[in-house]
Amino acid sequence: MEADHSGETADYIPELASADPDRLAVAICTEDGRLYSQGDSDVAFSIQSISKPFVYALALADRGFDAVMEKVSVEPSGDAFNEISFEAGTGRPLNPMINAGAIAAHTLAGPSGATPQERTSRIIDGLSAFAGRRLTVDSAVYESEIATAYRNRALANMLRANEIIEGEPLDAVTGYTRQCSLLVTVDDLALMAATLANRGVNPLTGAPVVPAEVVRQVLSVMATCGMYDGAGHWMTNVGIPAKSGVAGGVIGALPGQVGIATFSPRLDRHGNSVRGVDLFRRFTSEMGLHLM
Ligand code: DON
Repeated sequence: MEADHSGETADYIPELASADPDRLAVAICTEDGRLYSQGDSDVAFSIQSISKPFVYALALADRGFDAVMEKVSVEPSGDAFNEISFEAGTGRPLNPMINAGAIAAHTLAGPSGATPQERTSRIIDGLSAFAGRRLTVDSAVYESEIATAYRNRALANMLRANEIIEGEPLDAVTGYTRQCSLLVTVDDLALMAATLANRGVNPLTGAPVVPAEVVRQVLSVMATCGMYDGAGHWMTNVGIPAKSGVAGGVIGALPGQVGIATFSPRLDRHGNSVRGVDLFRRFTSEMGLHLM
């Protein structure tokens, strides 16, 4: 089959624009911890929006469902990931997968009253527990994104004005951008997804990372909102709760079965990896993985 060279690397984060567009990797981790990978599986890239479901999980685990729901809803927005969209009346972001909701969820990780540094540490520790190894921030990607993060700053200011977040909005954006700059490989992502598939227990380390009821909530939101304004087509065609990131990663988690991760930096107009989406489509049709 002819390789698909369509799509572009993300250009609004300069450091991502210069990524090698031809990288391709895939990994699958079973819920009992068997990991299979192919292609550029040793290449590290920034996790970007794939951090969002995991941070939402930490917020739910740390603060409880009611406290998180008060600040971030669970409705698909039908909008692009960076849209300035808030629920009429409450001023809440519609879901934790779009940037507005993810910045709010970022501030809800860790105990109430945690400092910005403490919550960022909680997030790095928590995502490392999902991955089964210590994850680190790519400071070049962080600096590159924060220097031009005007839209996310606007979102954080709106969140503060709507009384959804507390404290200094810029602290929320810097912490969120660090979270997005964590370096991962497809092997890491497959294991993180497999931890969701395995009801919150890391299948390699055996560590209980978040409770099973949290995972149910997170996978439900991934299924309905994880692929943004492409979520409906994704769910009908591919049928796996999923999340993408603008560095080119995509994860999918099938409860009780597997975590899947792909990496290829060229993106479609929704900000989802072109080849990643195609690989997932093939998994669905050739391996019968559609949930329905
Ligand atoms: O906030 C941003 O715009 C990026 N750090 C993450 C966006 C992203 O990954 C969107 N997903 N495909």
